[in-house]
Amino acid sequence: MSESLTIPVQPKDLLQRPLRDLRISVTDRCNFRCVYCMPKEIFGRDYTFLERSELLTFEEITRLAGLFRQLGVAKIRLTGGEPLVRRDLERLVGLLAGLPGLDLTLTTNGSLLAEKAQALRQAGLQRVTVSLDSLDDRTFMAMNDVDFPVARVLDGIRAAQDVGLTPIKVNMVVKRGVNETSLLPMAEHFRSAGIVVRFIEYMDVGHSNGWRLDDVVSAAEILATIDAVYPLEPIAPNYPGEVANRYRYRDGSGEIGIIASVTQPFCRGCTRARLSADGFLYTCLFATQGHDLRSLVRGDASDQALLDHLASIWTRRGDRYSDLRTAATADLPKVEMSYIGG
Ligand SMILES: C[S@@+](CC[C@H](N)C(=O)[O-])C[C@H]1O[C@@H](n2cnc3c(N)ncnc32)[C@H](O)[C@@H]1O
Ligand code: SF4
Repeated sequence: MSESLTIPVQPKDLLQRPLRDLRISVTDRCNFRCVYCMPKEIFGRDYTFLERSELLTFEEITRLAGLFRQLGVAKIRLTGGEPLVRRDLERLVGLLAGLPGLDLTLTTNGSLLAEKAQALRQAGLQRVTVSLDSLDDRTFMAMNDVDFPVARVLDGIRAAQDVGLTPIKVNMVVKRGVNETSLLPMAEHFRSAGIVVRFIEYMDVGHSNGWRLDDVVSAAEILATIDAVYPLEPIAPNYPGEVANRYRYRDGSGEIGIIASVTQPFCRGCTRARLSADGFLYTCLFATQGHDLRSLVRGDASDQALLDHLASIWTRRGDRYSDLRTAATADLPKVEMSYIGG
């Protein structure tokens, strides 16, 4: 990158929110078909995924990440689709780890983690978040819809712990009538293991999961269910804008997070941008349109031109979809979670 870049003052958007986090989706493909994310009826044999040539290369991603770093991004999370199905992902991790001062992490369904943990760690990944919706095989398989067993995800979590990809977080999406009975077993299993479970309200991302408000188990209900058996108390956020509300067990055996994106939207503190696998920038998870960075990167745009462009996109951002959510907005043609990353 050129030495002589003029760095725009770290941009703030229309609601005075700085740009701090970047989620990078490295693929829109996944080996799971979670019912709340990539339902089989939509993401079946006939679904058209991105072509390889459409994906940003690791070098293109790294160039953009370096520019985002200059604009104030301090944390990058690799996601997807399932990021570990992208071949040689550890090479990208190695490139990104070379950017100074970045917190570098990854969200995965854990299916390939046992075999990849060591290489990821060696390449410079700092920690992982693993999604797991139940400890009960029947429930988990009904959610991942590819008959993937719980034990192999737990193997992945163990491997990540062994190589030091810590602190590990576990994400559990709670869907009414599907896995609420797994709340207590999940809390129980992970609470003494130094692993924070984050219970996530089922969201109306994309427009293919048939989301209905009735399917959401609210944060209040999640909290009451766990607190009734394992008493909890609230604790302060780790940093301003943290999306999870934190609680610790009163007996000192650990903590949980609850992500109340539906019932207690946190748009006001949202400092996050998302880069899709094909190089479109989205300034909200619920956006209907992105900004094409790939054609600029593959054209002859200079670093300075790209930097100015990114800053101008951010300063024009006014998104606050979750604040405005209604039953009607659920039907908007939003981009899919598997494309944009969680
Ligand atoms: C889209 S996934 C991508 C990374 C990886 N495949 C995984 O599952 O961890 C990122 C996160 O989004 C969550 N997620 C997907 N669809 C969701 C929905 N409709 N509501 C809430 N969370 C969702 C997943 O459970 C996961 O924790
Ligand atoms: S939540 Fe993750 S694992 Fe499940 S279908 Fe979506 S991308 Fe795949």
